[in-house]
Amino acid sequence: MSDPVLHVKNLSGGYDPVQIFQEIDLILHQGESAGIFGPNGHGKTTFLKTLSGLIDPWSGTIRFHGDLMNREGERGSRKWRNFNYDAVTRRRMDPKKVAWAGLIHVQQGNLMFPELTVDETLSISSEAARGRDGWTPEQVRDLFPRVAERRGHKIRFLSGGERQMVSVAAGLLSAPRLLILDEPTLGLSPKIRQELCDAILKVRKTGMPIILIDQDVGFLEQIIDTLYLFDHGRISGRMTREEMPDHDGLMALLFGEHH
Ligand SMILES: Nc1ncnc2c1ncn2[C@@H]1O[C@H](COP(=O)(O)OP(=O)(O)OP(=O)(O)O)[C@@H](O)[C@H]1O
Ligand SMILES: [Mg+2]
Repeated sequence: MSDPVLHVKNLSGGYDPVQIFQEIDLILHQGESAGIFGPNGHGKTTFLKTLSGLIDPWSGTIRFHGDLMNREGERGSRKWRNFNYDAVTRRRMDPKKVAWAGLIHVQQGNLMFPELTVDETLSISSEAARGRDGWTPEQVRDLFPRVAERRGHKIRFLSGGERQMVSVAAGLLSAPRLLILDEPTLGLSPKIRQELCDAILKVRKTGMPIILIDQDVGFLEQIIDTLYLFDHGRISGRMTREEMPDHDGLMALLFGEHH
């Protein structure tokens, strides 16, 4: 059998010196998608930022298509407290290497450059794509007609929903072999939310492996094969789509019957 798309073993991390998540195991096979569901502030975003190398893992391993993405071993102690920490610490993981391998992370809160236009923003993605085959600009414009209409506008003049669409479009243009989406529909009005959900479902139907964090159980059900429950920085449950209860059922699993 071929290597899994993603194989995370015993991963721990956080914002030094505060540990945020611990001992996470996650495996994603070719063609599969996984969801992560859990309360606010419990470390879901921090875990994803670690997967893509934005922050360093403390221990454990991240393998992408069989290749080790991080330096192995425990994080070293901080010896040089009087020095600039960033200057003396060797990174344990290189986010460029991760993106160039095709592990593409669309971050929570559509972080983008407000003064760039939509087209300028999307053009950056070719740097991450590095010549790998992926979505073409035409395909992305068909998927997000609203983004196509705003091509010449600066990001700061777009609505929240439009920005979120640009973020996902940029992700697709980066030629993902795995697309990580962190709460892409957070805070959107129902109409634009539906447009974005439909677009993500179309992407999923091409067979793209996706890791999706979302609070909407109905949406998760459409996209994922496996759901991970995330609680206090740990995976507290794992279930297939068929085993997934409704929203109240999930809340009961996380918080007990009387939440
Ligand atoms: N840059 C940072 N430096 C220090 N602590 C941080 C940083 N970002 C987040 N935290 C803390 O890490 C913890 C986990 O936050 P994180 O954003 O990973 O949670 P989350 O599960 O994604 O929450 P949400 O559902 O609200 O997005 C929180 O206590 C948060 O305050
Ligand atoms: Mg988050």
